[in-house]
Amino acid sequence: MVLPRISKTYAHALRAAAFVLYAEFMRLSGKKVLVTGAGQGIGQAIALRLAQEGADVAIDYPRDQDRGPAEETCGRIEKLGRRAPLIEGDVSKPADAQRMVAASVEGLGGLDILVNNAGIERRAPFLDVTEQDYAAVIAVDLNGPFFATQAFARHRRDVKQPGKVINISSVHEELPFPNFTAYCMSKGGLKMMMRNLAIELAPLGITVNNIAPGAIETPINQKLLSDPKLLKPLLENIPLARLGKSSDVAGVAAFLASADADYITGTTIVVDGGLLWNYSEQ
Ligand code: BGC
Repeated sequence: MVLPRISKTYAHALRAAAFVLYAEFMRLSGKKVLVTGAGQGIGQAIALRLAQEGADVAIDYPRDQDRGPAEETCGRIEKLGRRAPLIEGDVSKPADAQRMVAASVEGLGGLDILVNNAGIERRAPFLDVTEQDYAAVIAVDLNGPFFATQAFARHRRDVKQPGKVINISSVHEELPFPNFTAYCMSKGGLKMMMRNLAIELAPLGITVNNIAPGAIETPINQKLLSDPKLLKPLLENIPLARLGKSSDVAGVAAFLASADADYITGTTIVVDGGLLWNYSEQ
């Protein structure tokens, strides 16, 4: 095939026009987002995916922890040409959760979307759970989203603009998980928080939804993933017969963050390869 020859200037102009068109049609162009706990795992995949789709994304790191992983996420987002302010704060502390939202608003010049992703889990039989572990799990997984969402909703109310809240929950917002009672309680609580706020914040134009991942290959379940005795029965419970990837969750977060999901609120999207409702008899 003979291609027509075009001048360098013309080629540059074409490329620039293509870029403008591309930016225009990227689903999340101009959106400003805070993704909590984006230094690793699902949070990092979500932050990067939203940035790929055009969003600027604020990333937090807890004061007493290494800021390296969060900085790495910021660097990767900036390479995509998006802004990624790094914000210090610990979601488990209500005052910090509020400050993180305020710092994101300041760093990005507003905040359209909040992704409550940060989470921890501690394994122990119910009879042995310590007060400390119980409190830590509830503080990060439930109190954090509560107070961050409150600060976010106040901001959207004040600027008279709609918004979206996306909580990263778990199949364990429904499904019992022996030895993880506090974790299940926090995810069950997150489910009811989402349902309540979908109604209460609807007059402000704020939608609230959960994503419920199943078993995803991330650092949170590293112990389980590296123990064949635990991993084998888990895989046998997953109809699609594989663990999920962070990117499986990130794609759904990008959809929920986009205008395609404007009419969705008060619901959970399960991303689990069929794990939650798997039941069979011989
Ligand atoms: C937990 C994982 C667990 C998965 C499926 C997730 O919420 O973080 O540890 O493997 O649920 O049970």
